[in-house]
Amino acid sequence: MTEVLTQDRAGLARAGALLRAGALVAFATETVYGLGADATSGRAVASVFAAKGRPHFNPLICHYADADAALAHVQPDARARRLANSFWPGPLTLVLPRSASCPVDLLASAGLATLAVRVPAAEFARALIGTFGRPIAAPSANRSGEVSPTTPAHVLAGLYGRIAAVVDGGPCPVGVESTVLDLTGYAPVLLRPGGVPVEAIEDLLGPLGSGGTPAQASRALRSPGMLASHYAPALPLRLDAQDVAADEALLAFGAPLPGAGAMFNLSASGDLTEAAANLFAGLRALDAEGLRHGLQRIAAMPVPAWGLGQAINDRLQRAAAPRGL
Ligand code: TXA
Ligand code: MG
Repeated sequence: MTEVLTQDRAGLARAGALLRAGALVAFATETVYGLGADATSGRAVASVFAAKGRPHFNPLICHYADADAALAHVQPDARARRLANSFWPGPLTLVLPRSASCPVDLLASAGLATLAVRVPAAEFARALIGTFGRPIAAPSANRSGEVSPTTPAHVLAGLYGRIAAVVDGGPCPVGVESTVLDLTGYAPVLLRPGGVPVEAIEDLLGPLGSGGTPAQASRALRSPGMLASHYAPALPLRLDAQDVAADEALLAFGAPLPGAGAMFNLSASGDLTEAAANLFAGLRALDAEGLRHGLQRIAAMPVPAWGLGQAINDRLQRAAAPRGL
């Protein structure tokens, strides 16, 4: 059984009580649904890994109600403060050294000396953290390796019966996960492109150091959340489609290619913000329709690589990567 709670005072009270009891509650952020647990409780955090089937060496993001609370649990430098001022609340996650008194359970950061912190823009999410009074550790609310959820139905499809509740906050407006930036070294390293475009970060910090591509950085980090194959639909995915066959489901961007067996348009007008918001729902829809109609694969039309397009392309590349990497 998984309770579906409403995003109101009653839902807030019930979700807070469940979190206090150490239970798991999924809730909407502006990016994707998070699977929330008391970040200071080893038992609660351990049950997040169990519910998702997530490897224990892949650390979780801690969510805070405001920047002061977030930065109190890490050792921020001037760059972190500037980024926090500009982008919080919002879809940016900062990886920083843990502070000496950080109460977040070590399992949440997978035993690392660092902690990933973020202040979500979604108001209900911040109200929940405020009501609860402690940081909430929350990975995306999907089974490990599957596409992130952007609706309560997506959450229930993967986690029904495995979590105490989901708070129905409707569809997530951004649709791709937060941008993850590692500030533990001399040069900031982009670990995951996401809801804050890299260009916006570079406007503030200057060009990001060549910490390598996100894929190279993830190999160095050995963090499965950033492994090549992730966000995987069941059907194989073909990228940069210039044409499409009748036995393929088309993930379109702009004017759709003719001849597909099924079609989902990320944005008919070619708008990257709209495309990001539709990405995971589109992959899920084509997966279901393609399997139902016996289609062979999903063919994805090219998406420009600037702004939110970088996060979209990153997720598509991971979804297309050979499985089991
Ligand atoms: O938008 C988001 O970030 C969503 C919402 C729920 O906030 N959360 C999310 O969490 O996407 P998750 O667990 O699916 O992805 C977190 C990513 C993983 O790739 C993980 O490896 C990385 O952040 N990460 C977390 N803590 C880290 C740390 N201490 N050092 C390096 N990477 C870290
Ligand atoms: Mg995830």
